[in-house]
Amino acid sequence: MAAGELTDNGRARVLADGKQIPLLALGVWQVPDGPECENAVRWALEAGYRHIDTAQAYGNEASVGRALRDSGVAREDVFITTKFNPGSRDPEAEAQRSLERLGVDSLDLYIVHWPQGGPTWAWDGMQRARERGYARSIGISNFSASEVDDLLKVAEVAPVVNQVQFSPFEFRRGLLAACEARGLALEAYSPLGTGRHLRDPQVAEIAERLGRTPAQVLIRWALQRGLIVLPKSTHRERIEQNAQVFDFELTSADMDALDGLDGTGGTDRALERLWW
Ligand code: A2P
Repeated sequence: MAAGELTDNGRARVLADGKQIPLLALGVWQVPDGPECENAVRWALEAGYRHIDTAQAYGNEASVGRALRDSGVAREDVFITTKFNPGSRDPEAEAQRSLERLGVDSLDLYIVHWPQGGPTWAWDGMQRARERGYARSIGISNFSASEVDDLLKVAEVAPVVNQVQFSPFEFRRGLLAACEARGLALEAYSPLGTGRHLRDPQVAEIAERLGRTPAQVLIRWALQRGLIVLPKSTHRERIEQNAQVFDFELTSADMDALDGLDGTGGTDRALERLWW
């Protein structure tokens, strides 16, 4: 199957390196290590999620690994992403540590968490991590279009995803177009605006009319825009609800209305403010 195509059940897409990635993931940013994270991951796997997105900087890889092992779901059936913390120096050595914490032999996806110190210095180490089999695919996060281009000039193995903050309110059209044109799939983090966007009246109106929840509308919008989407929750009923998004469709009128909520001016930048 060609890159960008969806697989048969419409729940995964093919990356530029030929690997398949499930479109819906549980994100575990800001979920404390321990029972809260283990429960969230266990409930997600029970609800049918097959993609978990963690990071070295989140400090909860061990809980993700424990929940995965305890779930009884086969390792090869779950897509695990973690991210290199660019506050440390060596992506290859840090990948090994992530594997130990997660208790797995290989990551499905290993991402540079943000372009601290510039967009290119970490990439050699990311490529080595892939060569050594620590990660099947490698990618980036929080990279603006110009940083993607800087990296592509020097990369031997190109990144296959860029994970950025993305929602109708942060509809970074320019960045999405640039990523798609360069063969990177875009992953949407904070698709609910860390909860803020759930209260928007226009989102609520669409949700009410369709008999859905605001969270489902925002997640569905991301799927229909061709994104991989990573909603976060630690509540079982919300985790379940957020996965019920493959059985309805937003009309093009509703998609247009949601597109109109963008406050970024369709930017090709990944962030309005840097945190490093
Ligand atoms: P909680 O984790 O307490 O369930 P984002 O994915 O944009 O980061 O948003 C995550 C925030 O949205 C969290 O505060 C989460 O709360 C909340 N949230 C996630 N799913 C739902 C939902 N279905 N209904 C209401 N709030 C939700």
